[in-house]
Amino acid sequence: MIRVAIDGPAGVGKSSTAKELARHFGFAYLDTGAMYRACAWWCLHQGIDLDAAQIDEQQITETVGEFFTEDHFDISVDPDRPIVLADGEDISEDIRSSEVSTHVSRVSGIIPVRHVLIAAQRAYIAREASGDSFSQGRGIVAEGRDITTVVAPDAEVRVLLTAREEVRQARRSGQSAHGVGAEDVAKRDRMDSKVASFLTAADGVVTLDNSDLTFEQTLDQLIALVDQAI
Ligand code: C5P
Repeated sequence: MIRVAIDGPAGVGKSSTAKELARHFGFAYLDTGAMYRACAWWCLHQGIDLDAAQIDEQQITETVGEFFTEDHFDISVDPDRPIVLADGEDISEDIRSSEVSTHVSRVSGIIPVRHVLIAAQRAYIAREASGDSFSQGRGIVAEGRDITTVVAPDAEVRVLLTAREEVRQARRSGQSAHGVGAEDVAKRDRMDSKVASFLTAADGVVTLDNSDLTFEQTLDQLIALVDQAI
């Protein structure tokens, strides 16, 4: 069982490269950002005010806790079909809306919320060791902000994917055709880096700056890192 942990800021191309890497090796794929986005979507859906100067952290934590313990939430770890469900409804598109993008950091900045998600993410990763899991025990690629440091610091492959800010901003703006509105990635990174350290690599984590690399070149480097670990 190979665990691949990939962290990095917004707009660096983590999701598309991580998904393709998982496909290449027949691994499961876990988009932890989608889990935080689903929580923000769920809170907004429950009528919680995420714009308030003082958000109600306890109410949000309870709401997110119920989202998981009462099985409202589900995510597929199939890289060919990475859908997110809330009460059986496919919310994969909705969680990419600019409304969710602008509010997600407020939810992910609540430490008890992170504890709920970290536990859930560890359970998804642990499940892949079993023969009757999606990857049949082969492995998983998990991507986010704190996977190399907190969720799976003992992963076999740990990578920090980075790119210069203007490159990331341009890539994110270019995604608007796919339903992702242009947004201020620097602002989201500033908020996110208060609770997770993903701007510099932790000890033992390989930094891969893909500012001047094509998608295929980035993927090839990741494949080489996984091959070394197998
Ligand atoms: O990766 P993506 O941009 O979809 O992540 C959405 C948000 O989820 C991030 O801006 C961050 O607030 C949160 N997140 C996090 N920890 C992770 C993954 C995502 O706090 N491991």
